[in-house]
Amino acid sequence: MKTTTLTNTLKSILIAGAILSSTTLLADGGALYKKCAGCHGMNAEKVALGKSKVIANMSEADLNTAMNGYKDGSYGGPMKGLMKGQVARLSADDISSLSSYIASLKK
Ligand code: HEC
Repeated sequence: MKTTTLTNTLKSILIAGAILSSTTLLADGGALYKKCAGCHGMNAEKVALGKSKVIANMSEADLNTAMNGYKDGSYGGPMKGLMKGQVARLSADDISSLSSYIASLKK
């Protein structure tokens, strides 16, 4: 009886641990997008500061190219310096999560 309880307790701890680590490993595009919404709109529908494309209309691949390009300086218009600051601290995983999230907002 006691050993069963112990085994079950251990099992729940293991399961809880697995759930926790899988959520922290997967970057959440929706959560990451929150700091972008001020300029690009909640649904990525705005022309940010009157300059950007409507990013909800961009393909996932183009979004990836744009964000990685802002990061390494190979992409952008007159305000690319501003976007470089936005993406500088994002990992490659963060950028792909953001790209698929933004592409999913297209109506
Ligand atoms: C302070 C306002 C501001 C914030 C915050 C911001 N952006 Fe931007 N974004 C801009 C502007 C302005 C441009 C156009 C820059 C240029 O000249 O290339 C742009 C361009 C882009 C582009 C490329 C569109 C194009 O015109 O080619 C993408 C993709 C993008 N932003 C994604 C994001 C994401 C994702 C975030 C959040 C991590 C974010 N932005 C945060 C203002 C902002």
